[in-house]
Amino acid sequence: MASITIDNVVKQFANQTVLQNLSLHVPDGAFYTLLGPSGCGKTTLLRCIAGFNDPDGGRILFDQDDVTRVSTHHRDIGMVFQDYALFPDKTAFDNVAYGLRARKVPKADIARRVNEALDKVSLLALADRYPAQMSGGQRQRVALARALVIRPRVLLMDEPLSNLDAKMRLQMRDVILDLVREAGITTVFVTHDQEEALAMSDRIAIMDRGSIAQLGTPEELYGTPVNAYVADFIGSANVIPVPAEPTGGAASHVRYRLCGQQLDGMQGSAALGAQGILIARPEALSLMAPAPHVPNAIAGEVLRRQYLGFKTAYRIRLHDASEIRVELHAGNMVADFQAGDAVQVLVPADSRIVGA
Ligand SMILES: Nc1ncnc2c1ncn2[C@@H]1O[C@H](COP(=O)(O)OP(=O)(O)OP(=O)(O)O)[C@@H](O)[C@H]1O
Ligand SMILES: [Mg+2]
Repeated sequence: MASITIDNVVKQFANQTVLQNLSLHVPDGAFYTLLGPSGCGKTTLLRCIAGFNDPDGGRILFDQDDVTRVSTHHRDIGMVFQDYALFPDKTAFDNVAYGLRARKVPKADIARRVNEALDKVSLLALADRYPAQMSGGQRQRVALARALVIRPRVLLMDEPLSNLDAKMRLQMRDVILDLVREAGITTVFVTHDQEEALAMSDRIAIMDRGSIAQLGTPEELYGTPVNAYVADFIGSANVIPVPAEPTGGAASHVRYRLCGQQLDGMQGSAALGAQGILIARPEALSLMAPAPHVPNAIAGEVLRRQYLGFKTAYRIRLHDASEIRVELHAGNMVADFQAGDAVQVLVPADSRIVGA
């Protein structure tokens, strides 16, 4: 096992800079996820760590070893690809044995280790099957066993679950986590499924056009996103421009208004005169019938109400014609509202403001 240090890595294809001085440290044994939209550079970064891509600048270290110029074969990595990349003409057993044979492991050890690996992914009974005779989930597990059997220092997984149906994806999350935790393998996982990232990761790196927009625990990214991009990418958020106005007091003091209503107690800040962005999770907001003098209450009208069982989702139109989404959970819903009702949206005092 090893920590991974990505130090100022640059990667260019033709004229396009795909990774821009990207730095990231993955501690030994941690499970980190790269999350971001298509084309942001997730696969490119993973391929740089694996040694399939040569960075144009920067360094990659496994523990203290600089592996930037070390070939893939000598990096001691296990890799699982989105399409599994199994050998179609080899059985499950031979697919898993491949890396051990390449490393000239003695025959008796190969049999023992392959059987052990297949057993861990519950595929011992299918050892003699060819990939074409297996389901997507079974192939995926062969790929996982093949990556783990060599006892790699680092495990790299590029959207390994994206070809599976919803139920299998959920099951495989647990299989993967159990295996990597048990082996203590440092893992970099790529997905563009935010729920998968939240559920599985020690830390998530949200990528934006070749850079890391924010690195944090799932709780940090959800609770304190640094900008609207991150807020919008993780979970769903109302992202509402609120100009930072002078208060008339000390020069550094600003206040925010939404539809003419002052917002008190906001966390974070935008520069005076700049645009602030209020980030409000739908479930953090609440609704009440119109009443005078309620702090942080913004008047609006219910456009649509959707009952979703454990929660009810509302689209509210504010007086400036902008829309805001509010979700009330069944357990703490004090009042219900219908389309056409006049309401007030309550913005909690610790809501977050970031710079635009
Ligand atoms: N071999 C290559 N030659 C030229 N351009 C490339 C090459 N590989 C990747 N790119 C470009 O680099 C950018 C990042 O690609 P990358 O595959 O890393 O994105 P990604 O985040 O993995 O996206 P996805 O979620 O769609 O898999 C894209 O614009 C892509 O077109
Ligand atoms: Mg990719």
